[in-house]
Amino acid sequence: MIARRDMLTSVADDLRIAGMTRPATITFRFGDAVIEAPEGESLAAALIACGIRRLGEGLDPARPRAALCMMGVCQQCLLRVDGRLAQACLVPVRAGMVVTPA
Ligand code: FES
Repeated sequence: MIARRDMLTSVADDLRIAGMTRPATITFRFGDAVIEAPEGESLAAALIACGIRRLGEGLDPARPRAALCMMGVCQQCLLRVDGRLAQACLVPVRAGMVVTPA
């Protein structure tokens, strides 16, 4: 599955500044999905822009984890990036990275 911004409707896309020049688009994996995003965008922002808001399971299955603060404080965006735990809001996306739930 390829998750492309132009194929998905998201609030984040609606909020982007029209006409702004962005870096080249790269692809990376999130689970089984291939995600396209501008290189250097934060991983959390790239996932949100593609409509992926559920980043992991909480202790209560009815309350999944999602990015909350977007500035490295809450730890709700914890994922594995190339096998290492990382806060998605602080990691810039780069080509070929492999991301899985923590
Ligand atoms: S969203 Fe809070 S630490 Fe990443």
